[in-house]
Amino acid sequence: MYRDRIRLKSLWGKVVPAEEAAFLIKDGMTVGMSGFTRAGDAKAVPLALAERAASEKLKITLMTGASLGNDVDRILTEAGVLSRRLPFQADPVLRKAINRGEVMFVDQHLSETVELLRSRQMGPVDVAVIEACAITENGGIVPTTSIGNSATFAILAEKIIIELNLTQPLDLEGMHDVYIPTRRPFREPIPVVTAESRAGLPYIPIDPSRIAAIVVTRKQDSSASILPPDDETNAIAGHLIEFLGREVRQGRMGRSLAPLQAGIGTIANAVLHGLIDGPFHDLTMYSEVLQDSTFELFDAGKLNFASGSSITLSAGKYAEVLPKIGSYKGRLLLRPQEISNHPEVIRRLGVIGINTALECDIYGNVNSTHVNGTQMMNGIGGSGDFARNSHLAIFVTKSLAKGGAISSVVPMVSHVDHNEHDVDVLVTEVGLADLRGLAPRERAETIIRNCVHPSYRELAADYQRRALQRGGHTPHLLEEAFAWHTRFQQTGSMMPKPLAAE
Ligand code: COA
Repeated sequence: MYRDRIRLKSLWGKVVPAEEAAFLIKDGMTVGMSGFTRAGDAKAVPLALAERAASEKLKITLMTGASLGNDVDRILTEAGVLSRRLPFQADPVLRKAINRGEVMFVDQHLSETVELLRSRQMGPVDVAVIEACAITENGGIVPTTSIGNSATFAILAEKIIIELNLTQPLDLEGMHDVYIPTRRPFREPIPVVTAESRAGLPYIPIDPSRIAAIVVTRKQDSSASILPPDDETNAIAGHLIEFLGREVRQGRMGRSLAPLQAGIGTIANAVLHGLIDGPFHDLTMYSEVLQDSTFELFDAGKLNFASGSSITLSAGKYAEVLPKIGSYKGRLLLRPQEISNHPEVIRRLGVIGINTALECDIYGNVNSTHVNGTQMMNGIGGSGDFARNSHLAIFVTKSLAKGGAISSVVPMVSHVDHNEHDVDVLVTEVGLADLRGLAPRERAETIIRNCVHPSYRELAADYQRRALQRGGHTPHLLEEAFAWHTRFQQTGSMMPKPLAAE
């Protein structure tokens, strides 16, 4: 019975079908929707919008926390509803529309979107559509499996539509910590001094008179598509765990390490999973996405506390964890993404940030977003928030892509998301390059020796040798720096033909 979940009775009359609520959204509006890496997204109103677009002109700017589930980005793209999209996406159909120039995609650091809205450098937000598992006695919104940007969208929007999802467990209530930074320039320090710190409220505080409609839904979050670990991801995890063990032995950190952040995806999940058998204990996470590995570490007794902005699980883990989510209460907090990813907090806590690169170069610059420097993959997400501010900024990638036609370590990255100044450690299945305190010439040697796949190693070493003859602080052969990429575009492989034949 949905009324039990709307504890402010005066709001009962606001319950309407999704189609009616969607009429609050007009052509040209900016809409802020909940949703962060497939968790806690609005599931009914966007579909009603897509249906309306079949018979009327309807184009919107859509802001979310991060990527959406339930094919919402695909459906909105196919219906032609999206004119502008930010700050992150991971949908193959939307990706193609972005790369055709049909949808203007603004790829932002995930901590920054609401800061730009609050200071009116972007916006205004006309309508917020927020998934909730309950509405409190005072009209506060209790989010579901993510907070993302929902709190600030709801606080700033002219009108709010709530999607009350009856499949989301009520036990989620009490697992959110909604803290909104005070206005600049007189901002107070953010009172998060450990991963466990509670700084705000367990709901999003709003004036209930701004709730324009409530839509009741029953659709679950989409599951994460995490591939099982393979030899390469296991090798990457092994190198990293060995490295962290050395950090402990050298007295740089204790056996509980430092708060861990791991990006979305198979490699990061495998690395965290690998910690189950590692010599570490009493771990904490200060991350943005909490994946299967978070709950595996909890259940193995290795993890004491996890702070994030969303819970994004595989289908099996979702079915296992969601019904007993209450048993993790007191050990898990979800925060707005500007807090989970806040530079101030990440620097204060000394987080170990582990994120995935598409490619990196021999000097340690990292491209996380653009295939061949032009085609958008997903977006920078939170990787920049963490890399710039972490105690240890670690990037992982397999050394080869596309069956060996691509080397993920190249002479010069074709797009830079994280520059050499922000990258401490690079790991491939081949090995680990510890770049701390090294000058570019030393970084190149270390990366080529430890991270480049043997089939490309001599090619990279030859490039570096010839570049060194020209001199410079960061030696390069500018006319050749992208030769590997152009060769791939022209021949389908970065490997020169004579070498490929050997
Ligand atoms: N050049 C071209 N394509 C490459 C490549 C390269 N150097 N390296 C990998 N790829 C391709 C893979 O072949 C694969 O293609 P497919 O989907 O057609 O199979 C795809 O990129 C994904 O690579 P995969 O190895 O499966 O890694 P992943 O799923 O872990 O994704 C990123 C890697 C970089 C795309 C992903 O981590 C990302 O979007 N990162 C940016 C956001 C981020 O870091 N957020 C962190 C906080 S959540």
